[in-house]
Amino acid sequence: SHPHRVFSGMQPTHSLHLGNYLGAMVNWVKMQETHDCIYCVVDLHAITLWQDPKELRSNIRELTAAYIAGGVDPERSIIFNQSAVAAHAELAWVFNCVARMGWLNRMTQFKEKAGKDRENVSTGLFVYPNLMAADILVYRATHVPVGEDQKQHLELARNIAQKFNNDFAESIAAHGFAEEFFPLPEPFITGPATRVMSLRDGTKKMSKSDPSDYSRINMTDDADAIAQKVRKARTDPEPLPSELEGLKERAGAENLVGIYAALAGTSKEAVLAEYGGQGFAAFKPALADLAVARLAPIADEMRRLLADPAEIDALLARGADRARAIADPIMDEVKDVVGL
Ligand code: ADP
Ligand code: NA
Repeated sequence: SHPHRVFSGMQPTHSLHLGNYLGAMVNWVKMQETHDCIYCVVDLHAITLWQDPKELRSNIRELTAAYIAGGVDPERSIIFNQSAVAAHAELAWVFNCVARMGWLNRMTQFKEKAGKDRENVSTGLFVYPNLMAADILVYRATHVPVGEDQKQHLELARNIAQKFNNDFAESIAAHGFAEEFFPLPEPFITGPATRVMSLRDGTKKMSKSDPSDYSRINMTDDADAIAQKVRKARTDPEPLPSELEGLKERAGAENLVGIYAALAGTSKEAVLAEYGGQGFAAFKPALADLAVARLAPIADEMRRLLADPAEIDALLARGADRARAIADPIMDEVKDVVGL
């Protein structure tokens, strides 16, 4: 069986929000203690939608800085940008020839992103999940922390791995490789807050694509912006309950309690034990203070790192060297197996 290896990535298309931080990054940081982790800035995924070249470059650096400032250790984990390691695109092509049209036709995220304009979106957007499978399998990663919205793509990666293993079983055996040439990667959805909801509408996920700035707290928001957004967060007039039960049907309140708990590294129960019976006039400022206390040092560290773009580029280059050292030999094996 394959050794535990984690792969995950984010697109350098936007500045990160609290949902990305609590839903993904906090978890990434923790996983470094138990796994070998590869955290990628997935720039090839970003260009499935047109990106301004200058902004893309700077977004790659900014996301890299966010990873590091958020606690990903570039010595311990591998941080790099996807396009720097050619094996991602190379294996993706092989997977374009393994995955079936019907599989991709079922991807709900494509339907959402393409909307009504399906004839006019890039073909890259359609085969994006094949590239995601390549991202993972080119390292034979076994564990992939994903958001709920990516579960279907991970299922596809498993199907691709399995079909490859089957289609080439004879050749895999003839070359003396393990029968499970590609491991079937396991998704895991953990993290202190798997669904941080919009501050304006407790039934929608906090998202970069929400047109309302007040719907999300960005990791680089200053103390004033954070305080204002929390103050304006949609809640109800009731005081907080002292038990979890009392949060039912109170999406706005539940979201804020969940965010508080995740930021404090505690449970919702513990937060309610402390704040139960108090109104939002007391709870919101406490939440804002906590968010500022957690996020301000990260934003400061990001600014410090971004002041030296050459150092970030050098760090990405070192990460890419380490990534290639794993991916290239696996890609060579793939070529042997396929007969290329
Ligand atoms: P967005 O959802 O804003 O488009 P991405 O899709 O780039 O952001 O998400 C990057 C990572 O952050 C993924 O692992 C995703 O699951 C996680 N994530 C995004 N939004 C949230 C949220 N509201 N709550 C929890 N995790 C989230
Ligand atoms: Na998303």
